Amino acid sequence: MSYLVLARKYRPQRFSEVVGQLHVVKTLTNALKSNKVSHALLFSGIKGTGKTTVARIVAKALNCQNLQDGYEPCNECPNCLEINKGSHVDVLEIDAASNRGIDQIRDLIENLKYAPVKGKTKVYIIDEAHMLTKEAANALLKSLEEPPRHVHFILATTEPNKLPPTILSRCQRFDFRRLESKRVVQYLKRICEGESYNMELSALEFIVKEAQGSMRDALSLLDQAMAYGVKTREDIVTALGWHEEALVEDLAFILLEKDLPQAMKLSRELYDRGIDLIHLMEKLTDFFRNLFMAKTLPGETSLEIHNPKLKETFVLSTSEDLLIIFQLLLRDLETLKRTSYPQLQFELTLAKICEYKKLMPLRDILQKLEDLSNKTDPILLPKEEKRTTLKSWTDFLENLRFEAPSLYPILKGLPEPEITEVEIVFKLQGGDSLLKDTYLPRIKEKIEQYFQRKIRVDVEPIKELSLEEIKSRPEVQMIAKELSAKVAHIELLKE
Ligand SMILES: Nc1ncnc2c1ncn2[C@@H]1O[C@H](COP(=O)(O)OP(=O)(O)OP(=O)(O)O)[C@@H](O)[C@H]1O
Ligand SMILES: [Mg+2]
Ligand SMILES: [Zn+2]
Repeated sequence: MSYLVLARKYRPQRFSEVVGQLHVVKTLTNALKSNKVSHALLFSGIKGTGKTTVARIVAKALNCQNLQDGYEPCNECPNCLEINKGSHVDVLEIDAASNRGIDQIRDLIENLKYAPVKGKTKVYIIDEAHMLTKEAANALLKSLEEPPRHVHFILATTEPNKLPPTILSRCQRFDFRRLESKRVVQYLKRICEGESYNMELSALEFIVKEAQGSMRDALSLLDQAMAYGVKTREDIVTALGWHEEALVEDLAFILLEKDLPQAMKLSRELYDRGIDLIHLMEKLTDFFRNLFMAKTLPGETSLEIHNPKLKETFVLSTSEDLLIIFQLLLRDLETLKRTSYPQLQFELTLAKICEYKKLMPLRDILQKLEDLSNKTDPILLPKEEKRTTLKSWTDFLENLRFEAPSLYPILKGLPEPEITEVEIVFKLQGGDSLLKDTYLPRIKEKIEQYFQRKIRVDVEPIKELSLEEIKSRPEVQMIAKELSAKVAHIELLKE
């Protein structure tokens, strides 16, 4: 791709050509001058700020046969030339993110003991060091602890916090900062001159703003702009399809509107156009963060929205909406950076955000269930009365069986009461033993507590049975039959 041309063509070949990162350059050149370069260096910082570039310059400086001023590689001796071409046997670049990385590390460790073949020092540059597997990192640890005198490790990473502390503590660390806009603009201007290309300063400034401190991004944007024949700021904003700001706003609008079909359509278009999805998602995430901030701290944040439709939608959106989208994007950004299927992951993220409203009720339900179990929300509790009408006598007995086993047999023998809206009505015969039971107060209490209503006991008077009725009762008949007797006289027992 054409944009690689400028970044490659203008990759600094010596310390004096590096833009910015003065603190790094100074420390390293001093160490070179006094021959005290640490055997384990860690270069951390955002992409495209010079980590790999400086690592290669250090490798050259450690091997140059013609070192200038004690630190600057000559770029002419065989060692410098081979390192520049990437073909020096003693300088090895390993991409820890690739599958081959693990094998390479194993290989590297086995070969550590051998002296450099052509140069003075073996230099191992381990890129994306945070992606080292656990085994690879462990294998490396010992070598970092006591590296042979002829070996230097340079670890480069954009995410130093993901490195195990054991590795971090064994390295001398250099933080590569975002490059200052002014410096980058000057640098691009010089490149334009070198390329005999005329571009307005404001156009260069626009590019640098988009690049956000990454020199590689600035150079690749410049490359594209040149390919399109851009001369002015207007050219960039209007004529080019890569006007990112507009694209990010379009996407933000679609996401806030939760327009799934449109989101899928745009996602496919972006992929077809070869847009860097990771970069775009970074911008989008950042934009939603800004939207959220503008919503939360309206007076304190200045946010420019150019798309009028988005402006309206933004006014109607809630800070919760914005926060959730920001959070989803941020979380998926990590996955997107790692996946082998960026287009699918990008689509999935957009789809998740568009479908998020539909997931809301489920979340609400879960919240309500949680509230219910905490009984914190009285509105959500069923009304007391409602609950009691659901209760049956059988349920009560079941409950009692465990709660008050001594009362259970007594109540089990009772005829089932009538449970009404206001009371529990028992119909008992005048002679029912319950009426005289010493447990009666406790029984009453239990029942009233359970059903949340009062007990009423209707006592039916004991019927005066006629002689004929008594004689015909089955138990009397049975006794008479057993005894082969006849009932001659009936008398009520005295109390
Ligand atoms: N400080 C700088 N001065 C001049 N050019 C730079 C600087 N940083 C980066 N560049 C340009 O950007 C290109 C990429 O830089 P480099 O590979 O050093 O970045 P990096 O920090 O290793 O990024 P990554 O984390 O993506 O590997 C270089 O070829 C160079 O043209
Ligand atoms: Mg790099
Ligand atoms: Zn040299």
